Amino acid sequence: ASSHPQMEEGPLLMGSNCRAKGAAPGFKVAILGAAGGIGQPLALLMKMNPLVSVLHLYDVVNTPGVTADISHMDTGAVRGFLGQPQLENALTGMDLVIIPAGVPRKPGMTRDDLFNINAGIARTLCEGIAKCCPKAIVNVISNPVNSTVPIAAEVFKKAGTYDPKRLLGVTTLDVVRANTFVGEVLGLDPREVNVPVIGGHAGVTILPLLSQVNPACSFTSEEVNHLTSRIQNGGTEVVEAKAGAGSATLSMAYAAAKFADACLRGLRGDAGIVECSYVASQVTDLPFFASKVRLGRSGVEEILPLGPLNEFERAGLEKAKKELAQSIQKGVSFINK
Ligand code: NAI
Repeated sequence: ASSHPQMEEGPLLMGSNCRAKGAAPGFKVAILGAAGGIGQPLALLMKMNPLVSVLHLYDVVNTPGVTADISHMDTGAVRGFLGQPQLENALTGMDLVIIPAGVPRKPGMTRDDLFNINAGIARTLCEGIAKCCPKAIVNVISNPVNSTVPIAAEVFKKAGTYDPKRLLGVTTLDVVRANTFVGEVLGLDPREVNVPVIGGHAGVTILPLLSQVNPACSFTSEEVNHLTSRIQNGGTEVVEAKAGAGSATLSMAYAAAKFADACLRGLRGDAGIVECSYVASQVTDLPFFASKVRLGRSGVEEILPLGPLNEFERAGLEKAKKELAQSIQKGVSFINK
């Protein structure tokens, strides 16, 4: 027997029930980059999701340990995959693939160096998806999301498997931050607050629609400025507090698990599942845009209109679109250069 029984060559571990009839009904989910700062807590949360019957954990390092650890949870099955030669097995048969793989910026690395490395990782992983599970729903977390989603689309187009309804950039962290910060200002439980966040997933492209908060409320212009800026810079708040020890991983894993659960409920056929996501869209003149989308059996079933924007939001939208256009172009040319 392998010393890592839950790794690819070992038997599939079924929690406490491995000799019973086979896999429980539910969805097969892969996490690519599963040993990372986001990947590990995300693996934990997905292993707890009752809609997940089989969880595949893929990374280029450390998956045996993470998988052994997670496999002791008395929930669904998990299997680990280590390194590029095991990518195809990690992906085959998956219903949902979540991608938090990437490398952090290291000293001496420019933004462009980082872009090229992470864009290359996204390309390789999406080539695997096109080959092994072209019908899977894909949740892209790897930054820069504004570019990695267009990169994934170009890879899928080249492979002839592109279905825009199945490719979703994860912007849920912006929404959960917005709900939390708005809840603080209003003195409400953040679980009762819903703030649409549109545009993209970096700096000024993150555009919270504070005029459309549910429950209905109003803010002073100071509050609008403070909240907008805090939501746009939430990532920096965490990076500074961690003081060299990393960026947002726990809140991101929570956000990714929340979004993945919405995708799975949509796949199951639940009605009325609406989340914000960065997707191929005609809601503006840009090819990709984050807005509220309705999720269903085929992925993104409807892109909801932006609704009425106030003057502050219209100005924000123009700024966001300018930057987004460049990020989208950068992603597209990375694949077609
Ligand atoms: P991390 O460095 O802790 O983990 C990344 C993992 O990816 C590592 O385990 C690494 O081994 C793995 N990896 C590297 N190359 C790979 C490959 N070719 N195939 C599979 N796995 C590979 O980084 P962290 O903090 O988990 O962040 C991951 C990504 O998520 C980064 O790009 C980060 O910028 C992004 N992020 C996105 C957010 C969002 O809201 N969408 C929020 C926070 C981070």
